[in-house]
Amino acid sequence: MRNLLFVLAMASFSLLQAGTAVYLNEDAPLEDRVEDALSRMTLEEKTAIIHAQSKFSSPGVARLGIPEIWTDDGPHGVRPEVLWDEWEQAGWTNDSCVAFPALTALAATWNPEMSLLYGRSVGEEARYRDKDVLLGPGVNIYRTPLNGRNFEYMGEDPYLSGRMVVPYVKGVQENGVAVCVKHFALNNHEINRHNTNVEVDDRTLYEIYLPAFKAAVQDGGAWTVMAAYNLYENRHCGQNERLLDDILKGEWEFDGAVVSDWGGIHDTWQAATHGIDLEYGSWTDGLRGGASNAYDNYYLAMPYLELIREGKIGTGELDDKVRRVLRLIFRTSMNTRKPFGSMRSPEHYAAARKIAGEGIVLLKNDNNVLPLDTAARKILVVGENAIKMMTVGGGSSSLKVQREISPLDGIRSRFGNSEVAYARGYVGDTGGEYNGVHSGQDLSENRTPAQLLEEAVALAKDADYVIYVGGLNKSAGQDCEDSDRAGLELPYGQDELIEALANVNGKVIVVNISGNAVAMPWIKKVPAVVQAWYLGSEAGNAIADVLSGDVNPSGKLPFTFPVRLDDVPAHKLGEYTAERTRDTVNIKYNEGIFIGYRWTDMHKDDKPLFPFGHGLSYTTFEYGKPVVDKKTITAGDSLTISVSVKNTGMRAGSETVQLYISDKKASVPRPVKELKGFAKVSLSPGEEKVVSFTIVSDALGYFDAGKHCWVAEPGRFEAVIAASAEDVRGKAAFSLVENE
Ligand code: BGC
Repeated sequence: MRNLLFVLAMASFSLLQAGTAVYLNEDAPLEDRVEDALSRMTLEEKTAIIHAQSKFSSPGVARLGIPEIWTDDGPHGVRPEVLWDEWEQAGWTNDSCVAFPALTALAATWNPEMSLLYGRSVGEEARYRDKDVLLGPGVNIYRTPLNGRNFEYMGEDPYLSGRMVVPYVKGVQENGVAVCVKHFALNNHEINRHNTNVEVDDRTLYEIYLPAFKAAVQDGGAWTVMAAYNLYENRHCGQNERLLDDILKGEWEFDGAVVSDWGGIHDTWQAATHGIDLEYGSWTDGLRGGASNAYDNYYLAMPYLELIREGKIGTGELDDKVRRVLRLIFRTSMNTRKPFGSMRSPEHYAAARKIAGEGIVLLKNDNNVLPLDTAARKILVVGENAIKMMTVGGGSSSLKVQREISPLDGIRSRFGNSEVAYARGYVGDTGGEYNGVHSGQDLSENRTPAQLLEEAVALAKDADYVIYVGGLNKSAGQDCEDSDRAGLELPYGQDELIEALANVNGKVIVVNISGNAVAMPWIKKVPAVVQAWYLGSEAGNAIADVLSGDVNPSGKLPFTFPVRLDDVPAHKLGEYTAERTRDTVNIKYNEGIFIGYRWTDMHKDDKPLFPFGHGLSYTTFEYGKPVVDKKTITAGDSLTISVSVKNTGMRAGSETVQLYISDKKASVPRPVKELKGFAKVSLSPGEEKVVSFTIVSDALGYFDAGKHCWVAEPGRFEAVIAASAEDVRGKAAFSLVENE
C-alpha cells in the first residue's frame, strides 16, 4: 500500500514537472537539481563557473539559463560598485549604503539578538543591491593588538565569536544572500599576509582558532567560506588539504563552496586537487605582475582545462567544485523565492544605532561623572576623531555611505541647549579616500601641533566637561587591512594631549575610537573612558546616546586590553614580525592556547588594563550565589547552573552574566577558566531575574591532539559566574564522573 502511494505521488510529481528540467524546478531536492545541471554542462562550462569573470563576479552557464554569481564586501555594509576589472569606482549613484558598526562592536554587545538584527539588515542591503555573496563576517581570533584587521573580527574568545557569528550568518542568508566566512584560517595579522606560514599545534588550532568557523558552518549553515591568504603547514590556505579537505569538508561536512581570497591562489595543480572551489582576484595580489582581464589565465581556468584535456588530471575534483558552486547558485542567484531586500531604510539606520549603542563599552566611570549632566552649559569636544568620517578607509570593508553622523554632530544635536565648543587638538590622518570613494571632508590643517594643543588646553580650562574623542583611524598602520600597527600606543601625540587636558580639567572623558586595544598611560588622570569602536553611519548619535544616558551602556570587551605590548603572550612567547618581506616567514604560535584572559588568569603580574568581558553600566548589579542542579554529571549528560542578578541602582540597565568553566585538575595544562556561556539580562531598578545556563559534558573537555578528539576528564570542575574575566561573582562546584 505504501509503495503504491509512493508510486502515485511520484507519477503526479513527474506529470506536474513534465517539460521542466529538474535543475529549474525549485521544488525538486537540491541535490537532484545539482546532478541534473552538472549532467548538462560541458567541460568548458564547468571550468568557467569555478573562477571569476570580473573583479567580484563569476559566470553562470548562459546556455542553460544558470545565472552568474555577484559577490561584494562585507562585512559592515555593502561595498560600492567597482569597474569590471578594477578596484576603482564604477561611478554608480545608487550604491551608497548604511554602514553598520564594525564587528568588534557587534561582539561587544554580547547579544546574539543584535547579531541577528545585524545579519538581517546588512543582508537586506546586499539583497537589494542584487548581491549573491556578502564577503564576511570575519572570525579570525584576536591574537595581537597590532593586527590591522582586528576591527573586522569578533575578539579573542572562540566561544564568544562562535555564538555571535551564527545569528549573523542566519540573518544574512534569510535573504537568499550567502555569507562568506573569512579568513579560513590563522590570518591573525596583516604584514606579510601572503607569505606568513603559521606554525601552531593541533590543540591550539582546534581549541582557539577553529571553533568560530566551525560554528558558522555547522550551527549557522554558512554557504561559503573564504580561504585565507597565509600558509599553514607550508601550503597556502586556499590550496590546503588539511584545512579545506580534511577539516572543513571532511570533519565538518561543509557542503558549500570555498572561495579564494582575492589573489590567494598560486598553483593550478594544488588548487585543482585541494579545496578551493571558486577562484577570485588572481593577478591582483601584488605578488606578481598584473594583467587586465586575465580571467582565462586564472589557475582554475585554461591551465586547469589543459591539464584535464591532456589527461594529467581527472574530472572528479572538478565535478565536486562544480557541484558546490551550483549549490551556491541555487541557494542564491537562482533562488526566485528570496525576498527583495531594502536599502538605506529607517529600520536599517535604527538597527545600526541600536547595535552601536549596545556595543559601546564604558571602561571607567569614577564618581559617576557619566552620564553627562544634560544641563551642562559648557561642553568642549577635543580630537580629530570627533569630526573624521570613519566609514571610508581600512581596506576592503571601506564603504560609500548615504550618511555618517560624526561624534561632534551627534553630541551637538543631543546637547543642543549647551554650548558645545570644538578644538581639534592633534592632526592624525587628513586623507579621506579609498579606491575612489571620497569622504568629502577637508581635514587639512596649517597650525602646528603645539598650537593645536595650546588651543585645546586653553578652552578646556573653563569647560564643564571635556569630551576627548581620539584613538586610531582607518589609515595604513592603524586599523587597516594589509598593515599592522607599529605599537600599542595612541599615535599623533595623543597621550601628551590627554595629559595636558587632564591637568587643567578634572572632567576629561576619553572616548576611544578603535578596533584594537590601546595603551592608556594617563588612565589614572581621567575619570571616565568609553570604548566606542567604529560605529558606522550612526556613530555620533550612538555615542551621544551613551554619554547623555539615553542609552545605559551594556557593552563588554570582546578582548583584553593589556597595559603593555610585552604583556601580550603572542609577543612575549610567540612570534610576530613587522618586517615586510617576500620570502616565506614562519610564525610560531608558541603561546599556544594561552592568549587573552587565558594568559592573564595565569600571570597575575600581567594584570590587564581592562580585562576581557569588562564593561560598566550607569546602574549596579548584585549577583546571588550560583547553584548547580546536580553535583555530578556523566559523559553525555548536562547540568544547569543558575544565578540571580538584581539591579540595585536607580536606572534600568542590562548586564551580561558570564559563565566560565574551570577544570580543577587535569592531566594537561588547562586555562584557569574558559568562557562557556553568557546571557544578557535587562533589569528595571530593583528588579531581579534568575539566569540559567545548561552545560553539556562536552563543554568540559580539551582537544587531545594525539587521539584527535575532545576529551573531558572525570574529576572536579567549577562553574564560575563572573561580570568579567577578572570580576568573579560566585562559584559552584560539580564533578564529572565515569559512566557506570
Ligand atoms: C581581503 C578580503 C576581501 C577581498 C575582496 C581581500 O584583499 O582580504 O577580505 O573580501 O579582498 O575585496
